[in-house]
Amino acid sequence: MDANILETIGSPLVQVTSPPGVVIAAKIESNNPGGSAKDRPALAMIEQAERQNQISPGDSLVEPTSGNTGIGLAVAAATKGYDLTVVMPASQSPERRQLMRAYGADVELVDGNISDAKSRADKLEETGMTQLRQFENPANPRAHYLTTGEEVLTQVGNRSVVALVAGVGTGGTITGVGRRLREEFPDMDIIAVEPEENAVLSGDDPGDDAFQGMGPGFVSENLDTEIIDTVKTVSIDDAEAECRRLAREEGILVGQSSGASNLVARQVGPKYASEADDCARRAPAPVIERESPTPSVDKRCPVIITVYWDSGERYMSTGLFE
Ligand SMILES: Cc1ncc(COP(=O)(O)O)c(C=O)c1O
Repeated sequence: MDANILETIGSPLVQVTSPPGVVIAAKIESNNPGGSAKDRPALAMIEQAERQNQISPGDSLVEPTSGNTGIGLAVAAATKGYDLTVVMPASQSPERRQLMRAYGADVELVDGNISDAKSRADKLEETGMTQLRQFENPANPRAHYLTTGEEVLTQVGNRSVVALVAGVGTGGTITGVGRRLREEFPDMDIIAVEPEENAVLSGDDPGDDAFQGMGPGFVSENLDTEIIDTVKTVSIDDAEAECRRLAREEGILVGQSSGASNLVARQVGPKYASEADDCARRAPAPVIERESPTPSVDKRCPVIITVYWDSGERYMSTGLFE
């Protein structure tokens, strides 16, 4: 039994349909208690501020967010007894604000993008609230280094990781997971994914895009650009089509950034295919009652890790699955 809901943070690593000779495996982060990968940095940033005696229960926290960090913070704030104000662009899905309010957070909507939300959070900080600063706070990538990355290493067992493919928002996920995996697999590739319409990592000017959580329109301080080998762009239409495919063909319901990352993982996959291309295209479906254990993923296949940040349920009102 867990002492509280925050102790249940963690997620499975699941093989998905992969090109021959390689295995794509996705961290299903919707399994976290707040339903996204951002539960990890949210808790880590609060705990770090507590350790540094900057905050204690009863204090007021504020954070600009595209939604998932706000939800993660709302879960941690409710569990630990903090007041939380979340500042979010009005363009993000209504499900996000409903969830934060359900956990007791105050939600302030701003016109514009995440930079506008940051400016408003700075103003609220001046009134005495503590801002956790997910774009700059090293506790964000460190949470992924210590938890997401570490979990992946345990979950892959003795298989070889050849690449990490991940979308970029604050950069916490790709930086933390990438740093930890590269300690064990120094030759692996790290591939960043960003919106085609807002491709600042590729050198374009900031633009408007419809992705939620990915593509902030600036290079976040928390993104370690040194560890990235390649940047790939994906259009919102292609990402959403991949979300529908994942739901209908693989039974996995995810949001746009996850669809985008999976699409890139499938595109680059053949480059990493093993010579012995007899790896299973898809793991056999498990049988509930069986005499021998469920057959596991082929251990000879190189593994590409990707991340599914949140559930498609958080996007229903956008018409993503219609
Ligand atoms: C849905 C979604 N995808 C991707 C990301 C990017 O993660 P990171 O901020 O760790 O780069 C986020 C971050 O908020 C997110 O909410």
